[in-house]
Amino acid sequence: MRIAIFSSRRYERSFFEKANARHDLVWLEPRLSPETASLAAGFDCVCCFVNDEASAGVLETLAAGGTKLLALRSAGYNNVDLAAAARLGIHVVRVPAYSPHAVAEHAMALILTLNRKTHKAYNRVREGNFSLDGLLGFDLHGRTAGVIGMGRIGQIAARLLLGFGCRVLAYDPKAGPDAQALPVAFVELNALLAESDLISLHCPLMKATHHLINAASVARMKHGVMLINTSRGGLIDTPAVIAGLKTGQIGALGLDVYEEEEDLFFEDLSGTVIQDDVFMRLLSFPNVLVTGHQGFFTEQALFAIAQTTLGNISEFEATGRCTNEVRAA
Ligand code: NAI
Repeated sequence: MRIAIFSSRRYERSFFEKANARHDLVWLEPRLSPETASLAAGFDCVCCFVNDEASAGVLETLAAGGTKLLALRSAGYNNVDLAAAARLGIHVVRVPAYSPHAVAEHAMALILTLNRKTHKAYNRVREGNFSLDGLLGFDLHGRTAGVIGMGRIGQIAARLLLGFGCRVLAYDPKAGPDAQALPVAFVELNALLAESDLISLHCPLMKATHHLINAASVARMKHGVMLINTSRGGLIDTPAVIAGLKTGQIGALGLDVYEEEEDLFFEDLSGTVIQDDVFMRLLSFPNVLVTGHQGFFTEQALFAIAQTTLGNISEFEATGRCTNEVRAA
């Protein structure tokens, strides 16, 4: 198949080229959007990533250009209008899991950095400043950690937190048997919010979870709670969290995702003036750590993404169907 790969980056090309046996890969740097969708004219398959826009309008342009398959290089598909894709006869396939370890481990990196302030220590020591003022952390051992969403990533996060000696509370309305077998306590969301010293979000972004963390849920949390989001930005109402940071209700915030990230992440904007004032306010807090959607970014995950994506495309080409197809509910 001829595949137009949007939002492509140099670091992923070698993984795709290694895993590719027979497809014609065309690398496009722009993000898929109403302005760039026409670049895919004549391509049977369009391959895109988390911040590409597969809205109804974009999908109409793709369908008019002959695209039959939208192959996501991601697990999440909240950026795709699945109903429009079905109406237009475009099949949507995804990579259900590539490395849940990568994301869960990144959540731990955010927790440990925020807690022990290694990012500050790194700079201080290089400048000959060995003062410990402002670097005080707490033992994770014995703390209560709340995991929201006990799927693939949430379960690994829970296991890692158990490894630190945390008491782990979990909330997931549809927890499977694997999750229930773990030595964690399943509780209602409000109990988790009220009892946790740190909360890590691992549920998908859907209508039901949009702004799951809002002014009311922040008010229910323990004063000084640490909040970690490596899932999707839309789970958090950012202004509500900023208000919580200002009062100290939220003691530390670690984000790998941000609701308006598609205008920022995966680009080098170091020479430009960032226009998003909410995002810039977040960066002004000493107890906020933001990474630019790099939770997935390990060698193992990139290879798995390339293999599964190309496998999905080959399966669809051979059979007209794909095990990893996603359909509108
Ligand atoms: P998964 O589908 O295995 O697990 C999601 C879990 O959330 C399921 O157990 C489901 O029952 C639960 N859930 C659904 N609604 C819920 C609710 N209202 N409250 C609590 N739990 C709820 O997904 P997986 O693989 O664990 O991924 C989780 C999320 O991580 C993805 O949806 C994606 O947004 C994000 N992700 C982030 C990456 C990054 O680079 N930062 C990379 C990959 C995924």
